[in-house]
Amino acid sequence: MHHVSTKKKRTQQTSEAYGQNYQKDREAATYNAKYRARWSKRITTWREFGLLERLLRSQGQNKILLDLPSGGGRLSPPMSHHTDLLIEADIALGQLRYGRDHGLVSTPQAWLMASGFSMPLKDASVDGVVCVRLSHHLPDKTEREQLVRELLRVSKRFCIMSFFDHYSLKNTLRRLTHPFNHKPPKSTMKIGELRRLANDCGARLVESPALFLIGSGHRYALMVKDKV
Ligand SMILES: C[S@@+](CC[C@H](N)C(=O)[O-])C[C@H]1O[C@@H](n2cnc3c(N)ncnc32)[C@H](O)[C@@H]1O
Repeated sequence: MHHVSTKKKRTQQTSEAYGQNYQKDREAATYNAKYRARWSKRITTWREFGLLERLLRSQGQNKILLDLPSGGGRLSPPMSHHTDLLIEADIALGQLRYGRDHGLVSTPQAWLMASGFSMPLKDASVDGVVCVRLSHHLPDKTEREQLVRELLRVSKRFCIMSFFDHYSLKNTLRRLTHPFNHKPPKSTMKIGELRRLANDCGARLVESPALFLIGSGHRYALMVKDKV
């Protein structure tokens, strides 16, 4: 029971409260250790690495890639093969410190404490941005949109962002069973909504493959900026 109520609290928390979760070293270490220990998470990571590798390869080699939020550096290995410099950015100091201690790769890295809503980076200052597992933690639609706008602002060429698909089987079942179990709604996005947002920011939604067809509602959106 305790586990269920903790989960419920997490899904209902504000983006500001979520940004505070991993500020301390111990909280970050616990989160990263748990992620590695669970076999279901290891399968997800294996699938995410494959997807990320394919999408990054389609965009060629980069001078600078931004990983936001980098968390403890889970995605540093697949990203590092595609760039000369990898910027790891997160709002939580604990996560950045964990990544610096445990997530070193052979590619040069830089760590930046920053919010995804307002990054201390100039327009088009990095070649591409990868934003995995943040948007579905933002309960507010305008914040999810602000995040996409900010990712596409700092990126010169492309953005890969995960989102929880409103029309996924998992979310459809959740919506249908809501009257019986009262589980709070997930923070979802629609593919059409993302397509319009990308267009608004001078980009194109090229593809949005699902992580898994059943069991997960996550998709990875590849948004590419049209050449000027
Ligand atoms: C679920 S983790 C994902 C980390 C990494 N992308 C991965 O897939 O392993 C979400 C991360 O988002 C960070 N975060 C929360 N709110 C943020 C914000 N507004 N801006 C940047 N990072 C944020 C948290 O500190 C946490 O490290």
